[in-house]
Amino acid sequence: MKENNIEQLSKQKNTIEIETGEVFMVEFFGQEILEMDKFQDLIRSYATSYWAGSWKELLKRTDKPVQFGTYDNDGRIYQETKKILEFNGVDYSNPNWPYMLWSMAAMGMLQDIDGQELVPYWTSESAGEELSKFVLPREEGGYGGEIAIVSNVSGECSGFAAYSVGDVFQADKRFPYKELVLTSGDMVGMSLSEVLMDIYGENRYGVFLDFAVAENTRGKGIGSKLFDLRLDRLNMLGAKVIVGRTIKTSPSQYFGNYLKRGMEIVAFDPANTDKALFAVETSRIIERKDK
Ligand SMILES: CC(C)(COP(=O)(O)OP(=O)(O)OC[C@H]1O[C@@H](n2cnc3c(N)ncnc32)[C@H](O)[C@@H]1OP(=O)(O)O)[C@@H](O)C(=O)NCCC(=O)NCCS
Repeated sequence: MKENNIEQLSKQKNTIEIETGEVFMVEFFGQEILEMDKFQDLIRSYATSYWAGSWKELLKRTDKPVQFGTYDNDGRIYQETKKILEFNGVDYSNPNWPYMLWSMAAMGMLQDIDGQELVPYWTSESAGEELSKFVLPREEGGYGGEIAIVSNVSGECSGFAAYSVGDVFQADKRFPYKELVLTSGDMVGMSLSEVLMDIYGENRYGVFLDFAVAENTRGKGIGSKLFDLRLDRLNMLGAKVIVGRTIKTSPSQYFGNYLKRGMEIVAFDPANTDKALFAVETSRIIERKDK
């Protein structure tokens, strides 16, 4: 199989069932998604539905580097965002408020409480560009990978995962470090591919590119099942070592998925050692008990 040809593989469909009995559909797409309505749904959800917790990428100011997110780690609307909602007369009892704020910002109709204009952190264009890189061929600057999309019964995008399979250097492309902190605590002038080569040698590497579950469907086990499906899919695509990065402040991901599935820390981000780079040989992945 050619490395950058994974979008050519036959499409696989899967479902995720959660405790309430709700069923979600998971579909895997390559480059063809760029021409589909599904891609527009993904762009919209990317710009508006994933910015709870540590990531504050719903809105930003244009005059200084200040960003606004949706809900804090306890599920409450961020205070500063609540003030924006009140100032602009947007009803936050409507669960669709992040999209309402984002749309107003996109039309130049949203202000911070001092009257300064607020703009979307991700515009439709920038989100589209970011997401298309995951599936565009490598010779066009992309990763030649896939996007798995989780849809609810109404067909709305409830989450996605992006990943690719190839040589070790695609790990550097996604996580471009010149220095890393090793697990020994030593800071070294090494790239991620050098660290990986030392441990796993030349291999077929599967790289996690992106992953998120919509705020209104979190905490129901969708993230962990999607994490499993992505591991299975990477295995199916021939990955022998899987590489990803996550942050401790995303505990369901860091502890609930990465560590639980046997991924091991290979290095830390020197700028923030809460961010860890993980890897695992596919043969050493720990199967979830309820599988
Ligand atoms: C991280 C994220 C994808 C998790 O999605 P989710 O659907 O809420 O996750 P789940 O409910 O499936 O939880 C995942 C696992 O973590 C476990 N978990 C949840 N909270 C946990 C915690 N505080 N500590 C340890 N484990 C935890 C869950 O029990 C579950 O494991 P299980 O299925 O074996 O029981 C979601 O919060 C998100 O999109 N966050 C923003 C984007 C992001 O951080 N992406 C990851 C970048 S690498």
